[in-house]
Amino acid sequence: MLEMSQREGIGIQWLTPHLGRPPFDLPWPELQQRFQAFRQQVIQHGLAIEVHLAAEVHIGPHILTLVQQNALPCCGQWEGDPAFLLELPFERIPHGTINLIHWLTRQGVRPILAHPERLRPLQTDPGKLEAFVDAGCLVQVTAASLTGTFGARTYEAARVFLQAGQVHFLASDCHNLQRRPPGLRHGLAVATDLIGETAAKRLVSDNPARLLSSVCA
Ligand SMILES: [Fe+2]
Repeated sequence: MLEMSQREGIGIQWLTPHLGRPPFDLPWPELQQRFQAFRQQVIQHGLAIEVHLAAEVHIGPHILTLVQQNALPCCGQWEGDPAFLLELPFERIPHGTINLIHWLTRQGVRPILAHPERLRPLQTDPGKLEAFVDAGCLVQVTAASLTGTFGARTYEAARVFLQAGQVHFLASDCHNLQRRPPGLRHGLAVATDLIGETAAKRLVSDNPARLLSSVCA
């Protein structure tokens, strides 16, 4: 999959396993250990792609504990604050989510909302994303959402968010070679059609570079 990413022109890739979402939930120290072994394999295979470890952290009380223990798996820093990938359930926005985001930003932690275009309540009412952005959330859209992989409702929500200027990152969110391959180049082409080359490039190059200027792992 990394070879496929490389062929698409991706130079740096974050690995973001799920955290706090059974059945994918492995303890963070074990993920770190596995990542070190994986990174050795990447080097041994002569791949030029740079890999970093973060996590897609599912919403839950465990986030408060991770923040208090200064143990939140972050992707880098945004305007001096550690940023991490936050995932919500697909079917509902849990009560208190916006309050949690306010609390996080007060603690100096910046959540990046993962694939809001795939969340049913935001598909039904894309205007709801504004409250997340106003509370300090950064926003990441999945490239395959723009290419129709997840259907018309997902595409439409992604289009609305992009054209409203609410998106900070476009990610591959690749899972495997068959059903969820990288596909970033194709997604970027659609984003370019929707918002122009400069704005689209910001989502896959300039903004990730801002995060990476101070990586955490
Ligand atoms: Fe996810």
